[in-house]
Amino acid sequence: MADVFDRLLDVKLADSKNRQLLQLLETGKLYDNVATEIRGRKIQVHGKWLDDFASCNYLGFDLREDIMASVLPAMRKWGTHPSWARLACSPELYTTVEKKLSELLGVEDTIIIPTISLLAVGLIPALTGKGSGIFADRYAHKVNFDGCRLARDMGAKLFSFTHTDPAELDKLLTENAALTPKLVVVDGVLSVTGRTPNIPAIVEVAKKHDAIVYIDDAHGFGVIGEKPTPERPYGVRGNGVVKHFGLSYDNILYVSGMSKAYSSLVAFVACPAKLTKYLKTNITAYIYSGPVPTAALATALAGLEVNEREGEQLRDKMYGFSKRIAEGYRAQGIATDNDNAFPIVSAYVGSADNVARGGQLLFDEGINVTMQAYPIVPKDKGVLRATPTAANTEDEIEHLIKAMGRVHNALK
Ligand SMILES: Cc1ncc(COP(=O)(O)O)c(C=O)c1O
Repeated sequence: MADVFDRLLDVKLADSKNRQLLQLLETGKLYDNVATEIRGRKIQVHGKWLDDFASCNYLGFDLREDIMASVLPAMRKWGTHPSWARLACSPELYTTVEKKLSELLGVEDTIIIPTISLLAVGLIPALTGKGSGIFADRYAHKVNFDGCRLARDMGAKLFSFTHTDPAELDKLLTENAALTPKLVVVDGVLSVTGRTPNIPAIVEVAKKHDAIVYIDDAHGFGVIGEKPTPERPYGVRGNGVVKHFGLSYDNILYVSGMSKAYSSLVAFVACPAKLTKYLKTNITAYIYSGPVPTAALATALAGLEVNEREGEQLRDKMYGFSKRIAEGYRAQGIATDNDNAFPIVSAYVGSADNVARGGQLLFDEGINVTMQAYPIVPKDKGVLRATPTAANTEDEIEHLIKAMGRVHNALK
């Protein structure tokens, strides 16, 4: 009898969808690596030092002494890990961070859960159910679709629209007016292009149809914020896409996390106070899952304090780096759709073969980026994604631009 796992692999790998990432893992050199040392944004992998552009720790908080110093005192007070389900009890650190987040975002309440993925599978079904409708952007992040599909299993109807076409959303909401509640699901910033959907138009359409907009701003929080100006196109305070567009939270549930910009394992949903008790008794992770570790709560709090003091300088740096990379790519004919200097700069290289070969060449050049092939991105739209942070250096930025130019020429 064939081994059951061989049989499973025979079936699974017959589907090309499951082979492209495997190809990157086996040959791409920038997949599933182990870093043996880190110094700033340089990491050592297989004995070689790489300039790192794969981490999304946009504000560069992971190695700051002042933030790391917050961990031990918090542990002395609260221990290594709460180990309560939030349902039972939470250390006061939780509510301190929640209050600070609420102030920064300008919302009544915030509920912390370890990750956005956990929130998506707990919160989207909690907001919908039999007789309800979910209208999800086709380009929304995979974890949000996991939540949507689970909600569909639980009785919700699921529709897709494209964030660039609010009229399509309008039509779907009109055709399905009888469904209630209606939930529109979008990302605040798309994780491959760094682009922000037309959130004001989407929110406006949703309002017209009494729909709630669930916004996953995993990348936007800490980077974009209120009051953008030509000098500071990101805006200030890094308080996310809703503030960036000067919108109210009337029909918005804002979801984000700190594991990118803030280098801390904290995710949250911002909500009106009247929803808090319902969410605390219906988000699965609030009831059934483990909590955020003490160290992450401490670094989240310390990070929010650093953001208040130094956030604008760090974002200015991030902005300058991102703009330079996008311009440097374009000057060398490298295809990128980054036109807003958001710190996600993807170089389009086509096939999964090119992504794997590009990864090998970048490794040899001493550069680390995120390789993305199908199903992360559409077929033949493979990407080498660079995410510069405030902790990178000028030299590292120049190194990336030149190395990517050489890789681009080699892949032609
Ligand atoms: C848009 C978006 N949402 C959610 C996630 C997942 O977040 P978490 O790690 O908190 O589950 C990611 C991670 O890459 C993301 O890019």
